[in-house]
Amino acid sequence: AIERTFSIIKPDATRRNLTGAINAVIENAGLKIVAQKRIRMTREEAETFYAVHKERPFFGELVAFMISGPVVVQVLEGENAVAKYREVMGATNPANAAEGTIRKLFAESIEANSAHGSDSTDNAKVEIAQFFSGNEIVG
Ligand code: CMP
Repeated sequence: AIERTFSIIKPDATRRNLTGAINAVIENAGLKIVAQKRIRMTREEAETFYAVHKERPFFGELVAFMISGPVVVQVLEGENAVAKYREVMGATNPANAAEGTIRKLFAESIEANSAHGSDSTDNAKVEIAQFFSGNEIVG
């Protein structure tokens, strides 16, 4: 089915001017960028976004990292977009990521791993709604 997923190009990637390079990997995989904006996340937004991880030991560092520089938030559309984008990103830890994936190509570490993608269609809806209103998404 045609799905939408939520993507973040993280601060480690924007800092190295990799937005276009990452978008090229996304588009070459057949995913369409139907919404996109470059923002500075607030601490509150980052804490809300990652609330599911708040008991994890890395939560504080993760939030600090996500507000350390600009991010690019995106909505991606395509056949099986949620699973496809997770494939395109590669494993969370770049050490385990397959050749050609965004994290293998660009990530610096498990934290500074260049990209986020939703892990389910339900979470995609919640994540998209946190950052985009309906009229900002143009399919
Ligand atoms: P993401 O897909 O955005 O979802 C949660 C994020 O937490 C993950 O990517 C990583 O950036 C980060 N993360 C996961 N595990 C660790 C870890 N062990 N140490 C630091 N950060 C982590």
